[in-house]
Amino acid sequence: MKAEACTYIIYGATGNLSRIKLMPALYHLDVENLLPEGSKIIALGRRDWDQQKWQSEVRDMLEAKVRNGLDEAIFKRFCERMHYHKGDIKQTESYTDLAKVANDAKKFPQNKAFYLAVSPSDFGDTVELLSNAGLLKEDAGWSRVIIEKPFGYDLPSARSLQKRIGKYLREDQIYRIDHYLGKGTVQNLLVFRFANTMLEPLWNRNYIDHIQITHSEELGIGSRAQYYDTSGAMRDMVQSHLLQLLTLVTMEPPASMEAEALRDEKVKVLKSIRPIPKEAVNAHAFRAQYSSGNHNDEKVNGYLQEENVPKDSVTETYAALKLYIDNWRWKDVPIYLRTGKRMAQSQSTISICFKEPPLQFFRDTQVKCTSPNWLLMGIQPEECIRIEMTVKEPGLEMSTRLTSLDASYRNCDEHHTDAYENLLLDVIEGDRSLFLRSDEVECSWKIVDPILQKWSGERDYIATYAAGSWGPEECKRLFDKEKQHWRHSLTPECE
Ligand code: BG6
Repeated sequence: MKAEACTYIIYGATGNLSRIKLMPALYHLDVENLLPEGSKIIALGRRDWDQQKWQSEVRDMLEAKVRNGLDEAIFKRFCERMHYHKGDIKQTESYTDLAKVANDAKKFPQNKAFYLAVSPSDFGDTVELLSNAGLLKEDAGWSRVIIEKPFGYDLPSARSLQKRIGKYLREDQIYRIDHYLGKGTVQNLLVFRFANTMLEPLWNRNYIDHIQITHSEELGIGSRAQYYDTSGAMRDMVQSHLLQLLTLVTMEPPASMEAEALRDEKVKVLKSIRPIPKEAVNAHAFRAQYSSGNHNDEKVNGYLQEENVPKDSVTETYAALKLYIDNWRWKDVPIYLRTGKRMAQSQSTISICFKEPPLQFFRDTQVKCTSPNWLLMGIQPEECIRIEMTVKEPGLEMSTRLTSLDASYRNCDEHHTDAYENLLLDVIEGDRSLFLRSDEVECSWKIVDPILQKWSGERDYIATYAAGSWGPEECKRLFDKEKQHWRHSLTPECE
C-alpha cells in the first residue's frame, strides 16, 4: 500500500511510552524507508525546550533502544522531520497554537495522526479540544486519532468515553491500540491457523481438551504504582491483551483479512463467551498479590512495600480466569487465562492441550515420558510454534519419549520488529485491522466487569504468592479436571 505523507502529532512526547516505544519505532520506520517522503513529527510536551534540546533528548531515547546502533545520516534525516512544540494538554490556547503550526501546509503534510500517549483521564478532553481548535477537520487531508489503552475503566466508563469522542470523530478515524496485535508472533497465529489446512479439522471441541494463555513477568510494578494500583492485573492485561489473544486462537476464519471482516469474527467470539454471574466469580476467577521473595537470587519487595502503594491495597498483581465459549466449535472447552507480575519467568505463551487418544496402547510399555499432544505458541521471548508428539525411542525395547515439531518464527539473521512499528505504519496506511473497534472494547469489558465488581467489594483479603514463584497454588481450583495444570514451559514436560 502506498501511503501519503503525514504529520504524526504526539501528545506526551516526553513521556515513557514515547521514549521506549514511539520514537524508536518511528526511527526504525525511517531506517526501513517506510515513512512516506515528507512525513513530519510534531512532539508535544510541557517543557520549555528548543529544537536542539529536543533533538538531544531523542538521541538519548534512540541510543538506548535502536537496533544496530544509531545511524548518524538517518538520525539527521529523522531530526529534519521533527518539530518540538511546547503546549499544555489541558489548555485551550495550546491547541489553537498547535493549529497555527500544524495547519501550515507549506511546512507540514495535512494528513494528521494524533497519538494520545497521555493519561487515560485526558482522552476525552483532548479529543474535544482538538476538535474545537479545528484540528480534526478533514478539509485538507485525513485526521486520525490513536488512543492508548485502557479505553475506559469498566463498561460504563468505556461507553461514556466512546459517546464523548464519538461526537467529534467517526469510528474510522479512531485507532484504539492493543499493542499485542502489532506483535509479529501474534500475527503469525493468524497465518498459522488460516494459511494451513492441517490443523483446522482438529481445531475444535472434539480434539482439544483445553487452552491456556499466559503472560507472566519477572519484574514488579516498578514506579507505576499510581496507575497500577487503580488498575490491577485483570484490567491491565486480561481485559485487553489476553482476551485479544483468545479471540485470535478461537475465532472462525474471517471472510477476508479486511479490517471489518476480521473484527466481526473477533466480536462474535467475545459475544459467545459465557457470562460469569457474580455468584460464579470464585469458581471462574482468582486474584492474588505478590509478597516479598527472590528475583535473580536477590531479595525483592512485596507489592505492599513498593513505592507509592497504599499499605492496605488489595489490588491484584496476578489474575487467572476460566472462560467458556458457547458456540459449536468450543462448547465446554475451558480456556484458562493468567497473568502476573513478579513471577518466576517472563513469557507470553498460548498452550493448547489436545485430548488423550481413546485407547492408551503404550501406557504399560517402558514409557519415559507421557503427555497428551500439546501445541505451544511462544509469543515472547521465545518466538515459536511447537507441536509435541510421542514417538518411539530407538532401540530394541518398546520405549517412548516426547519430541516436538518446531516451526520457529524467526531465523537468527532476521531482526525483530517492535509491535509499535507495525501499528504506527498501519495508521499512516489507514489499515484498522489491528486496532480495536468500539463494540470489541465493550464486549471485553462486559466479560470482566462482574469479576471486577465482585472483587471491588472484597476489601479485606487477597491471596498472596511469593515474588519469583509461578503464582498462588490455590489457583489450581479453577481447573475442571485433576489432570489439568498450568503449563509453564515450552519444552516437553513429563508426567
Ligand atoms: C501493558 C501493560 O499494556 O503491557 C503492562 O500495561 C505490561 O503492565 C505490558 O507489562 C506487557 O507488554 P509486553 O509487550 O511487554 O508483553
